[in-house]
Amino acid sequence: MRIICEPDYESMSRAAANIISAQIILKPDCVLGLATGGTPLGIYRQLIEWYKKGDLDFSECSAVNLDEYCGLAADDAQSYAYFMRENLFEHINIAPEKTFIPNGMNPDTENECSRYDGIIERLGGVDLQLLGIGHNGHIGFNEPGSSLPGGTNCVTLTKRTIEANRRFFSRVEDVPQKAYTMGLKGIMGAKRILLAASGESKAEILYRTFDGLIETDVPSSMLQLHGDVIVVADEAALSVIRKKAPGLLSRG
Ligand code: F6R
Repeated sequence: MRIICEPDYESMSRAAANIISAQIILKPDCVLGLATGGTPLGIYRQLIEWYKKGDLDFSECSAVNLDEYCGLAADDAQSYAYFMRENLFEHINIAPEKTFIPNGMNPDTENECSRYDGIIERLGGVDLQLLGIGHNGHIGFNEPGSSLPGGTNCVTLTKRTIEANRRFFSRVEDVPQKAYTMGLKGIMGAKRILLAASGESKAEILYRTFDGLIETDVPSSMLQLHGDVIVVADEAALSVIRKKAPGLLSRG
């Protein structure tokens, strides 16, 4: 695991976008695992800027997203499918048929989960998985619990996640209670993982992720078992690690 420390959100975003660009340049037909939420917005803005300058070409890339809310159609402005189109896909030259996201409208959970796992398998797995991290250590929407499903699954979101995500909805009651998420097998199966984090509110969980026990109560702690994880975070997000486990910051 390597931690890249950046002074602020903007430079964190640029550093993470640089790693994604390098992946695309080195393997133009790569499979990118993508995330939604507040953290990747700056990364996506940067990638769009470089694409518009002619420095990046997404034409051969595929993208698989981590998750989607259950009950929201792809044209719903709150869906993650909509988020991805608005914040990335519509501004770059990725082929729409090479972008994948769980279908939140499929009521047949078993069918949707195996369909999505089949897609990941057919693509040959993810080359570079971009992750954000929940305050409770969720990655994708794999919430803390007594066990963690390996494959794509349908999860009931915790109160804390619903609270954290209500900023994207007008009322807390509008935040869906369930979501489809890529499981730990899909995430941990990625050849390389890029975890992006910003802000003091992520400092404690980043510390627990990388310096705590590996436990299902902190799903992100599983990342300790992956051989190629790059964390790109700003000073605020790394403040607890800097205080309690500074040795992690100097690892190559
Ligand atoms: C989003 C996702 C989530 C978020 C996490 C952090 O696709 O899978 O795990 O990455 O909830 O969200 P933000 O970036 O909004 O703090």
